[in-house]
Order: sequence, then C-alpha cells, then structure tokens
Amino acid sequence: MSKRVLAFDVYGTLIDTHGVIAELETALGERAAAFSQRWRDKQLEYSFRRGLMGAYTPFSACTREALEFTDRALGTGLSEGQKDRLMATYGRLPAFPDVAEALQRFSGAGVTCVAFSNGTREAVDGLLSQAGLRDYFDDIISVDEIKRFKPDPAVYSHLRDRMESEAQDTWLISSNPFDVIGARHAGLHAAWVRRSAEAPFDAWGGEPDVTVTDLLALSERLG
Ligand code: LAC
Repeated sequence: MSKRVLAFDVYGTLIDTHGVIAELETALGERAAAFSQRWRDKQLEYSFRRGLMGAYTPFSACTREALEFTDRALGTGLSEGQKDRLMATYGRLPAFPDVAEALQRFSGAGVTCVAFSNGTREAVDGLLSQAGLRDYFDDIISVDEIKRFKPDPAVYSHLRDRMESEAQDTWLISSNPFDVIGARHAGLHAAWVRRSAEAPFDAWGGEPDVTVTDLLALSERLG
C-alpha cells in the first residue's frame, strides 16, 4: 500500500461549479455564463475575506451571500424562489466526466484518496454521494473542522494531522491556483488540474509539482 495521500479539492476540481448555467439560462439567457463566473469569484472572495477577518461561516453562507451580491451587481432581479432553487442546484452539481474513471484507477492502485474542501462535511458528502463518487474516498476533510478557509496554512496542516501523513507524501490536487499555491506554501506537493487551456496560473511562484489537463492524466502520473 502506497503511503501517498491524494487530497482532492472538490468545487471546480471534482465537481463542476458551472453546472448551474443551464438553470441560470432559463432566467437570464445569454448572461448566464457571466453570472455563474461572477458568483463563483465572489464566493471565493468572501471565503478569503472572512478568513482574514476571523469571521468564519460555513461555505454555503459564502455561496448564498455571493449569489445575493451577484444578483445586485448585475441587476438581474432574481426572486427569492429562484435564488432558493439555485442554492438547491448547488447541492447537486455534476462531476466532471473524467472523475469517476480516474478515481477507480487510484483506488485500484491502492492510493489513499480523500476529499479536502472549504465545503462542510455534510455538503461534500451530499455532493459526492449524488454524483456516485463517495465510495472512492477514504474520508472527507473539511476546513469546517477548524473554522478556517483555504489557503490558510492551518488548513493544510490540519489535512496532514487528520491523515497522519508526512508533507512529502501528501498531495493536494486542485484546479484552483490559489489552493495549489497555498499547499506548496505549506510544504505539500500539489498538482494543478488545468481544466481549461485558457486558465492562467498566478505569477508569484509556488509552481505546481505537476500540471495535468484532467484527472485521467493525473492517474498516469501518480496512480
Ligand atoms: C473547495 C473550493 C476551494 O472545494 O473549491 O475547497
């Protein structure tokens, strides 16, 4: 059994946060994609700000507050019912198409895989279960256990504490550059899943150890 622990980011890496676009299109037409992007960016900004302020709240509250802000900023006038439905959709977002097969490969190779997320254990459990992925993970590690958000070094340290793993055996797998840089800063290895050819990486060091286009490619490198 490999000592290696692969800790998978959830939103944007395993699960497609832009899975809300189809529902947004009904209400907003061609503005749906821009709305979805702004919503996601604001959700992350709120987690960063709350982290700095020491004003932790479950990630779903950042998501809801970011939805309200985006509606105000873009003047889209969504009703409370529409916002409630969008939040419900956020709880059953689809997985990216490569994920199940890649996780099967890792599990076949005896690699320990955990989900590691800003989302609460309950939210992540629900998402992975409805996407048929829950059984591939040995555990779910949520930042909620220490009430901090990524990329606070404390969350990467918490991951290692929970897994009782050495830094050199612990890999963060994420499509989010801020998460990759955070993990590298905390001494972990990190793989960047560059899901879009246009996705830029931040120009301040902390380069990923490995860059792949999807998780199947990752399984070739680390499986
Ligand atoms: C997560 C966010 C960062 O799942 O995507 O942790």
